[in-house]
Amino acid sequence: MAFRAIRTIAPTASRQLAVSTRTFAAGPAIKSAGSQYSSLTTGALCATVLAASLTLTADPAHAAAPKVDPAAVKAAIMATIEAEDERRGDGTSLAPTLVRLAWHASGTYSKADGSGGSNGCRMRFNPEAGWGANAGLATARNFLDPLKAKFPGLSYADLYTYAGAVAIEYVGGPAIPFAFGRTDATDGTTSPPDGRLPNADMGSPAATAQHLRDIFYRMGFDDREIVALSGAHALGRCHEDASGYWGPWTRAESTLSNEYFRLLKEEPWTPKAKKHESGGCPWKGPAQYESADGSLMMLPSDLALVQDPKFHEWVLKYKDDEELFFKDFAAAFGKLLALGVKESTAGSTGGAGGGLGGLLAKLMGFMGL
Ligand code: HEM
Repeated sequence: MAFRAIRTIAPTASRQLAVSTRTFAAGPAIKSAGSQYSSLTTGALCATVLAASLTLTADPAHAAAPKVDPAAVKAAIMATIEAEDERRGDGTSLAPTLVRLAWHASGTYSKADGSGGSNGCRMRFNPEAGWGANAGLATARNFLDPLKAKFPGLSYADLYTYAGAVAIEYVGGPAIPFAFGRTDATDGTTSPPDGRLPNADMGSPAATAQHLRDIFYRMGFDDREIVALSGAHALGRCHEDASGYWGPWTRAESTLSNEYFRLLKEEPWTPKAKKHESGGCPWKGPAQYESADGSLMMLPSDLALVQDPKFHEWVLKYKDDEELFFKDFAAAFGKLLALGVKESTAGSTGGAGGGLGGLLAKLMGFMGL
């Protein structure tokens, strides 16, 4: 079993080299009126195929949309993460919080009426900014503010989602299919109602599994995609001052791997003790699970993935095949970041399969995702 080392903080010079070799290989963005395409490190071949094959429908309303240089934005996001990680110097990373920011900016989508989603970036405003599910994400937003100032032509909605895609690469994950073109709302009046993001515990394994399906099916995902997306919990940790839960899921929280799935299966998870006989500090937080040595955690919603037979099938597959996990994760995360953007982006042809979502699907097809 391959076990990845915890990401070490490399000296700036060598990380800069890594950044420069990991910047867009796609060359110049493919531009139409107000629309830009990039594929993260999928190579010039992909760009050539796209350039030859994708014809975007010009939308006069967006003809004057400002352009940004994706390679410059990507380098700036990488540098921001790197600077913060070096400042911390403890092996934790800003990248997981940026992944979570991108997911919460997008995961409010409902396919039933097209509400929510990443377009508009309403999570900057109340009510979304104040939702309990978004606690702790202001920190991530604050890190991105200087980048918005540096690239005024970039919408917040593109910045937040793109930062999540770049963060996945930063932590050694797969290239995420991504297209620019989101626009910003000016306030939170069009936010969907609270309750669109998942709870970690609905009281029983069956109710929690059903809740995950209710939440993710609403966005248009299936069981396989739910499990693949949950693999992001290889990254980062729970913070008591944000969610009330505590601890990392894996021993390499700054590296994307299939460790989350291996640990789900192989670690003897037990409810985190409310009392310690030994006199240690009793756990006063919500019900969560801990590893044998108490250093790792799982949420009830994580364990639901092994308790539910259909989810379990995919946990087993991803545990044994990291390549499959990366492939499925890239496709599902790219799809997530594009939720809700169809109606107001350049290139929209209206109708199903049009706009950013439809073009992203074509992009993913070309990438073999
Ligand atoms: C399946 C339902 C999910 C539930 C119930 C859930 C719940 C949570 C909770 C409670 C936290 C801790 C937040 C904190 O205390 O700071 C967290 C963190 C995190 N979640 Fe999820 N999550 C889910 C799905 C996802 C998905 C789909 C992704 C991304 C694709 C994701 C990515 C992350 C990451 C990277 C962190 C760590 C953030 C950090 O270290 O700051 N989660 N999640």
